[in-house]
Amino acid sequence: MVPVYLSYKIMSEVIWKKIFEKSLHELYGNRDNFFNELKKLDALRSGAEYNTGSITTSSAWCLLSASNYFMPKKVLEVGTFIGKSTYAIAHGSDLALSKTSIHTCDLSNDIKLDLPVSSEVICYPKTSSTDMFRAIQNQGLKDFEMMHVDGRLQADDFPLIEKLLTDDAVILLDDFEGIEKGVANVFNFGAQKKLNKYLIVYPPETDFLNKYGFHDCSTTSILLPKQLLQLTAQ
Ligand SMILES: C[S@@+](CC[C@H](N)C(=O)[O-])C[C@H]1O[C@@H](n2cnc3c(N)ncnc32)[C@H](O)[C@@H]1O
Repeated sequence: MVPVYLSYKIMSEVIWKKIFEKSLHELYGNRDNFFNELKKLDALRSGAEYNTGSITTSSAWCLLSASNYFMPKKVLEVGTFIGKSTYAIAHGSDLALSKTSIHTCDLSNDIKLDLPVSSEVICYPKTSSTDMFRAIQNQGLKDFEMMHVDGRLQADDFPLIEKLLTDDAVILLDDFEGIEKGVANVFNFGAQKKLNKYLIVYPPETDFLNKYGFHDCSTTSILLPKQLLQLTAQ
């Protein structure tokens, strides 16, 4: 028999649609407030030692929707910078009435975040991912259900990540295009033979984003544990 072939491209669109549409009305109702707060964070650039890129509007919406959908209790983040991604994840959880706790590090910057969220944000300024993961492990913390990577993971990170994440943790990666760091991070997951448990969800396409009123691009991809994919009757 001929199998039914589903491309990663088709699967990715379906998965983003489910994630975007779970609480769309509620998220849209808060949209202006969300983007106003996000814009205010640009002012923090003036205090940056390493003034680099932040996430796009579409990527912020992807992170907001993903944390609102998955409702993780604990999140790891690599690459705080001016905190746009941290804010998107925290606010998405707040809107789901599911307070989260986000541990976020940045190797090059020491920017103080004062985010208008009820979720907890624990910053590790001037700290590498490896050092943050070690510090978290030394505090006896584990069972993180989500990780956002907007930095370059190091070889020493992988054994620590394995200990800190739950088996069904969702991993979001920025800059998943070309030969950028998101792709490098996925390759490194592959090199650690950890990729076979995940489905790679590609960043949403521009046409898809346009339908929701977004006109820039997103490079946010997801490593979605295959066990989180379920077929339903309806
Ligand atoms: C693109 S910026 C992050 C933007 C941020 N997510 C935002 O929304 O504003 C990437 C940051 O990650 C940091 N970084 C890169 N690799 C890192 C690592 N392995 N550990 C800690 N920080 C890292 C860099 O210093 C840089 O400030």
